[in-house]
Order: sequence, then structure tokens, then C-alpha cells
Amino acid sequence: GPTSQSPPSLTGRRVVVTAGGTREPLDPVRYLGNRSSGKQGFALAERAVHWGAQVHLIAGITDAEPPSGISNLTLERIETAAQLHEAVLRESVHADVLVMAAAVADFRPADYAQAKIKKTDDDANPVIPLQRNPDILADTVRRRAGTGTGPKVIVGFAAETGDDAHAPVALAEQKLQRKGCDLLVLNQVGENLVFGQDSTEVHILASEAAQRTLGSAEPVHLRGSKVEAAEAVVSQAAR
Ligand code: CTP
Ligand code: CA
Repeated sequence: GPTSQSPPSLTGRRVVVTAGGTREPLDPVRYLGNRSSGKQGFALAERAVHWGAQVHLIAGITDAEPPSGISNLTLERIETAAQLHEAVLRESVHADVLVMAAAVADFRPADYAQAKIKKTDDDANPVIPLQRNPDILADTVRRRAGTGTGPKVIVGFAAETGDDAHAPVALAEQKLQRKGCDLLVLNQVGENLVFGQDSTEVHILASEAAQRTLGSAEPVHLRGSKVEAAEAVVSQAAR
């Protein structure tokens, strides 16, 4: 079991971690956002530093304060998915590991209004057109496949509630295939679960290639703190 193994070493490795949510502006006073606290991403960054990595943390909008004053950890703040995309592409060029724990907005308002949007006199309900954001994780995987360069290990996250027809793990298996990343960390979400909490329940799924490297087809399953989840995720990435 894990207790019989020596602690994983990331000495000399460069790890990029994204954390928190993005904020997509609609007008000077409004935005589309989400409930990501940033806690899981921060715990991942701290764990990677603990095991010897040089970590670049790209943090979006967070409730929690990002770690500071830690040597071997640099912090960059972003707001929008577009800014996150630009930062991840720049940093991925020389990264060994990319961990995409950020909650990236799937859509942004299609048009940014330079002036505050006002109610109209006719009582009409407004319609706000949305536009798809690029998939940063899938783009990084695609570029690695195309160029043969980029992070050796790409870790995605998935927050799934499941639905009538699909268990959360089944949806995560599909997402792992679709995204093409090496590891996919499933968070089971619902009312009061995961978002903003310190405890979490995760499954760490591995691609077929990663399963061969890890020597196991069994996903890691654990219920515990986000710090414990981070330890398990970074350990799998290091292996
Ligand atoms: N992600 C990303 N770029 C996006 C959306 C998501 O890089 N535009 C990353 C997230 O950081 C996460 C993974 O993709 O690591 C999965 O995010 P998730 O929202 O679960 O997946 P989606 O493909 O957006 O699917 P869904 O429609 O279920 O939201
Ligand atoms: Ca999404």
C-alpha cells in the first residue's frame, strides 16, 4: 500500500497549478462567475512544493487566500478564461506537470458593454448572448500531441453530480477520454458538497497509458480533506 512506498520526489520538476474560478465581465459592474474557492488548487500547489517541485500557481477568483511567502512557489493572478489560457500556454512550454484545478467558465458574455447595462422602459426581459470559451486543458493536450513538447503529465479535474442515467464515475471516464489528459480527478458535487468545503471525495482516474506506467487499472478513491486529496493527486502525478 501507499504507506510502504517512499515519498514521491518532484525535485527539479516544474509544476504549473491553476486554481479558483474565472470571472467573465459583462459590463463595468457585472460578471459571470462560479463558486470555486481555490482551496483544492492551493493544497495541490503546496503539496508539490513540499515534495521538491518549483511551482507556478495561476490563481483566478478565490475565497481563500493563496499561499504566500513560500520559496519555490510563484503566484500569478488572472481573472478571465482568456487570461488563464494565455498564462497556461506560456507556462506549459517548460512545465513537467500541469494541474488544471481551476473552474474555467465554459461561456462568457459574447459582447462586453463599455457602459453599464440599464433596464429598458418596456419591461422586456433582457437576453444575454453567451459565447463558448476555449477548452484550455484539451488545447494543451492537443498541442503536446502535435509538437511532442509540453507537460509530461497533464491532470484534469471534473465536478460531476451524475444524472438519472449515469453515475459520476462513468461521466468522468467519458471526460478523461474526451479530454485526452493523463489523470482525471473526479469530485462528486451537489448541495453543500465540495465547493468551499474543506472535505472532499475524489476518484483519481488514469488514462490507459498512465495505467501502464502506474501498474494499476484501479482508480484511487478517497474521502478526506482537500489536503489529503492533494497528497494523493500529486503522488500519482509524480509516479
Ligand atoms: N477546463 C478547461 N477549459 C475550459 C473548461 C474546463 O481547461 N474552458 C478544464 C478544467 O480546469 C478541468 C477540466 O477541464 O480540469 C474539466 O472541467 P469540466 O468543467 O468538468 O469539463 P467540461 O469539459 O467543461 O464539461 P462540462 O460540460 O461537464 O462542464
Ligand atoms: Ca465546464
